Amino acid sequence: MLPWSFLIFTLLWQAARLWLRPRRLERALRAQGLPGRPYRPFTSDAPVKNQQSPMPLGCHDIVPYVVPLLHGAVQEHGRTSVSWNGPVPTVTIVDARLTREVMFGKSGHFEKFPRTRVLSRLLTNGLPRHEGEKWVKHRKILGRAFHLEKLKVYRFFHEFALLHSFCYGWCEVDVCPEFLILAADTISRIAFGSSYLEGRRILALQSEQVDRIKASGKMISIPGYMSLPTKNNRRMREINNEIESVLEGIIAKKMQAMQEGESTKCDLLSLMLEPNMGKTDGNGRPAAGMTIEDVMEECKMCYLASTETPPTLLAWTMILLSMHPEWQDRAREEVLGLLRLHVFFMQPQVLILYQSMMQVTMILYEVLRLYPPAIAFHRKTYKETKLGGITYPAGVVIEMPLLLIHHDPNIWGADVHEFRPDRFAEGISKASNDPSAFLPFGWGPRICIGQNFVLFEAKMVVCMILQHFEFELAPTEMELVNVLLFIACSHLSLVGINNNRVQKHRA
Ligand code: HEM
Repeated sequence: MLPWSFLIFTLLWQAARLWLRPRRLERALRAQGLPGRPYRPFTSDAPVKNQQSPMPLGCHDIVPYVVPLLHGAVQEHGRTSVSWNGPVPTVTIVDARLTREVMFGKSGHFEKFPRTRVLSRLLTNGLPRHEGEKWVKHRKILGRAFHLEKLKVYRFFHEFALLHSFCYGWCEVDVCPEFLILAADTISRIAFGSSYLEGRRILALQSEQVDRIKASGKMISIPGYMSLPTKNNRRMREINNEIESVLEGIIAKKMQAMQEGESTKCDLLSLMLEPNMGKTDGNGRPAAGMTIEDVMEECKMCYLASTETPPTLLAWTMILLSMHPEWQDRAREEVLGLLRLHVFFMQPQVLILYQSMMQVTMILYEVLRLYPPAIAFHRKTYKETKLGGITYPAGVVIEMPLLLIHHDPNIWGADVHEFRPDRFAEGISKASNDPSAFLPFGWGPRICIGQNFVLFEAKMVVCMILQHFEFELAPTEMELVNVLLFIACSHLSLVGINNNRVQKHRA
């Protein structure tokens, strides 16, 4: 009796999930005139893998190459259209004002499009995934910790000065892996006060985990799949355990040092642990801060976020400065000028130096505009919501393709696909005809918590490189690669670096 009722229940549930619900949502969207592909069960608008021809060198019109499916949808259906990810409708909206409205979340009817539980367990279950009170508490603690002055980032500046000893004369360098290692070293030392070797181990493990998750594809979200004793599943669990055991070691060392009187104000980990020190509730749990498991998840998140996007930003900056040597010269002139002043006044005040780099700032903004590491935002309606004159029922994913907004000629003008950092000469708000269309770090309460840290890191690295090297693209075939999570540039990142020429230039 029981198996039959179970079978009937499962069939009804699947019929509702795969047919009745999507059809109801489709009718509600179509009735309001939204164009797009009709729902077909068991199919998805799978991302198109690769563009036939490689992108021509010097062309920054990357939308058709990076997001061909989205590009096609906008050409065919206009700036708002429906597509399907299995039984879930996704409405793509290419509109900066509506994007800000959704991201600001004033109505409170949008939630972050959830990653599956398995993915959170295997990668990280940190701040970007939290909602409600837990998000408020963690955001407050991490927000405090990410203040530049608190992180004592200037210590890193002096250590980074060693970089110039890396290469003499002309050589070819694949900058992407170099920046990846640099990012892991930076987050290890500055955020956790731990050794760079621990950081590199975590980087290697997380990279392997991401590769394995990508290779597993949709299988990973099938209930129970991860419990199967396959070789891949076993390895993924091993990786997770090893990352956690390295982090446990780092956290234990830090807690001991803090108990022995080490300052609690000098790195991110101390600042995360500090609210807990000595204060527990009646049940022995931390009164104000996070549990150790929470701290561990936030550490994983920091490692992942720091090694995912900043290397992309740095690599594209090198590539664009190689393609546009006039901007490389302008930036170098500024850096050398500022450093001369800096030495003259004998002020090792890196934060002042950081704030004075106008040309470098404009260049980084233009790189983030043309090649934003996060190419789209996603939110899901969990209540019926009105947006831009359309009423969206609960359960619709809203996709806001930042890349298309950053490449919209209506916002940025006819030269939208040109590398023109001077459009930011009078600040972000005057760079386009929509003062808030520049959104590389998101918008609203969930704006990137690491943005100041990233911009500081990028400026320091660019400053150091410009000081010591001249660079141009290595004579290698160019190809733009679109990767699931961000615009990576692995085939583009070979950069020829010349140390001698800068030495001569300076003399
Ligand atoms: C170039 C580098 C980076 C870019 C372009 C970037 C971009 C973004 C964007 C667009 C969001 C908002 C996502 C959304 O609302 O759906 C975000 C959120 C976030 N970022 Fe970054 N990020 C960068 C680096 C970092 C770093 C280095 C960290 C930390 C170490 C970090 C930590 C976070 C966190 C914790 C959130 C979630 C905040 C919340 O939900 O309250 N990011 N980032």
